[in-house]
Amino acid sequence: MNKPRHLLANNKKWAAAMKKANPTFFAELAKLQQPEYLWIGCADSRVPANEIVGLLPGEMFVHRNIANVVVHTDLNCLSVLQFAVDALKIKHIIVCGHYGCGGVKAAMENNDHGLLEAWLANIKDVQLLHRAELEETLTMGTRFDRLCEFNVIEQVTNVCRTNIVQQAWHRGQQLAVHGWIYEIGDGILQDLDVTINSLEQLPAYFRLT
Ligand code: CO
Repeated sequence: MNKPRHLLANNKKWAAAMKKANPTFFAELAKLQQPEYLWIGCADSRVPANEIVGLLPGEMFVHRNIANVVVHTDLNCLSVLQFAVDALKIKHIIVCGHYGCGGVKAAMENNDHGLLEAWLANIKDVQLLHRAELEETLTMGTRFDRLCEFNVIEQVTNVCRTNIVQQAWHRGQQLAVHGWIYEIGDGILQDLDVTINSLEQLPAYFRLT
């Protein structure tokens, strides 16, 4: 059977190099994880979370899916969020999208992508919400870029709408939700400046008591 054995060989080399740099690295990590960050990003192989922000194992809790979408009924994402906020007490949630996102592009198309359409519907909703601005934007390329940005912004709001995040704020827990976007072409992250760190920043109709 054809197995990707080189990956296991790479792993041995990596573990040895890590141990050489810090002999107690893995022993310390095995005791506990204390990440300060939760990353919610796209599953795209070109956007490896820890690597692009220079963080080591143990420093960031990560959830990735197609087009970094936060759906109100997604038990997977909500479970990650709850554990990160309630148990790990992470201080920053980073929703990170990227330009050229295949999921966002697929959502802009009219052809049927099968099962994936149910997921892409969430991005089509973002498109509908910002239709006025998107349709005024002239070229298809800039419209695509802008939808990638709007998708991040709406997912930041969706994170803040959860009772998980709102109850943390009610308890006085320090927690900020950020929206970033990554350019695959140059490896640079951009802060979209949509950070929310209190209930007061949300519209009244989203606030839970
Ligand atoms: Co993507």
